[in-house]
Amino acid sequence: MLRFIVAIILVLIVAVILGLIMTPELLLPEAASAQAGPIDTQFRFHFAAIAFLFSLIVVLMVFSLIVFRRRKGETGDGKHDEGNRTLEIAWTIIPLIAVIALAFWGAQVLAQVEMEGSDPLVVNVTAQQWSWRFEYPDFDVTSAELVLPEKRQTLLRMSSLDVIHSFWVPEFRVKQDVLPSGKEWIRELRINPTVLGEYAVLCAELCGQQHSEMRAPVRVVTSADFDGWIAEEQAKVPEDPVERGALWATQFGCVACHSVDGSIIVGPSWKGICGSTESLEDGTTVDVDEAYLFESIRNPAAKIVAGFPDVMLPSYSEGMTDEQIEDVIAYICSLE
Ligand code: CUA
Repeated sequence: MLRFIVAIILVLIVAVILGLIMTPELLLPEAASAQAGPIDTQFRFHFAAIAFLFSLIVVLMVFSLIVFRRRKGETGDGKHDEGNRTLEIAWTIIPLIAVIALAFWGAQVLAQVEMEGSDPLVVNVTAQQWSWRFEYPDFDVTSAELVLPEKRQTLLRMSSLDVIHSFWVPEFRVKQDVLPSGKEWIRELRINPTVLGEYAVLCAELCGQQHSEMRAPVRVVTSADFDGWIAEEQAKVPEDPVERGALWATQFGCVACHSVDGSIIVGPSWKGICGSTESLEDGTTVDVDEAYLFESIRNPAAKIVAGFPDVMLPSYSEGMTDEQIEDVIAYICSLE
């Protein structure tokens, strides 16, 4: 009986210590969305339950190993029970009830997190290897940065141009896989930002070589600042085609694979490429002029420079107009 009491006290002590360590405050960044509330409550409960169960199993096991170890001179089997119907029924029924209760609670939280707000701000999110693009269809603005007004729901409508990516801003808690292959696979995520500040979108799905670099800045601003930012973005398109090209290159994610300083990320660097002569896989050569650049942007697989991957998908330039591509070419040809 004394051993039993000691064991229970040890279990409780270890459970409390673990419970104090495993909290959302220590393991997760600041919560910055309305959706984070119910999710953190669940985290908290699950961490506490895990701390208790871990302690119950591991502390009792270690306790038994030490207290009931074989002493000198003992050779036979220890005392043991065989079968205990009450115990078996109990440890079947209790977890069953617990799991069903958690499922109900989980479903409730999911419904809360996906709740539709009135008049949400729609942002179309395009993911590609290895960048994010944010389109504000109501304002005709496209940006490589996600700017959100606080206290208003944002509805993200997300799709991918190539492989599966995953949209995740840890401070907002919610996470959603972004799927390729067109409009019928658009995935939605609703976020009500509550805290002004700067965050980052991380890609949470292994998506190739630069996966860990696939980030984009996120800013939560007041609604007045949001209107100001929209006006700024609308006025931003430069007169100079070279400057415009640099803007598109960032917005459409070209620079995720093509450096402008001669280094090789995945595709050829743009530095000095315009006007050069490149060898192709089949041994022929090609003069890199504006026509070749245009073809390569619209249809990257047509003539691949020797030594580069031949599996590039042609869809990266799908959302670009011919004029935007011409601007990008002007930009490329300005990089000597
Ligand atoms: Cu996109 Cu990982």
